[in-house]
Amino acid sequence: MNHDKSRDKNMSRTFIGKRGCCSICAFIFISMIFAVYLTYFRHPPADELIRMNNHRFSMDSSHNVKSDSSNARQSPELDTEKDTNVDLPEVVDKERAKWENFLREKNYVSIGEVFDSCDAKSRKLVGQTIMLKDEKHGGVKTRTFLNFTTESDVTDGEFFIDVKYNDNDLFDNHWELCGLTYYNDDGEEEVLADCPYPKGFHSYTKDRKIPDYLPKGKFETNIWITDQNKDAVLCGRSIFVL
Ligand SMILES: *[C@@H]1O[C@H](CO)[C@@H](O)[C@H](O)[C@H]1NC(C)=O
Repeated sequence: MNHDKSRDKNMSRTFIGKRGCCSICAFIFISMIFAVYLTYFRHPPADELIRMNNHRFSMDSSHNVKSDSSNARQSPELDTEKDTNVDLPEVVDKERAKWENFLREKNYVSIGEVFDSCDAKSRKLVGQTIMLKDEKHGGVKTRTFLNFTTESDVTDGEFFIDVKYNDNDLFDNHWELCGLTYYNDDGEEEVLADCPYPKGFHSYTKDRKIPDYLPKGKFETNIWITDQNKDAVLCGRSIFVL
């Protein structure tokens, strides 16, 4: 009788012990997940993110010769493009001045630029990508302004994208341009370009949410669109940090 009781006690002690151990493990596990979330995923508020990205792009981008030395070590690829871009034709500078004026007037934070070709020597600035607070969905979004002119109808072509995360390749892909669709921020399918895409002047403003699930770090996105002759008609790069 006595013997049985003490055995029961022992058993219940080990049982509680195991449960206690399980709770501690679960607690540690949950704390670790939470710490990982705080460290890598929880972004600062939108205002802070925009402040973090202020002047960042112009520091990284190809036209700013002064930043060459600081960037050269990180990315040899960026650097070669910079070297070819030191002497810009006057017409290019005029376009740049117009866009920089536009950014200054509106107090926009630029995180990207779009050109009419990928050739660093002859390309002309045709657009800007800025970072904004996303009032509708929360967090931050990008807005791209484009004013470009196509010399002839675009009847065929491809859309290329290449994304780097903390200077490592993350994702690249390409699609047929004609009839290419994508989902906008409200989840509706939209056509990017219908072919033939008429020659002449085009003016666009497009918003794109920066997804909240992206981890913290530096994102570099290169996008280029080619026509039926495989010439790039638009070529853009954006760099932002989260
Ligand atoms: C872009 O085009 C629109 C429409 O023609 C014009 O109102 C705007 O000033 C242009 N922006 C720049 C920076 O050239």
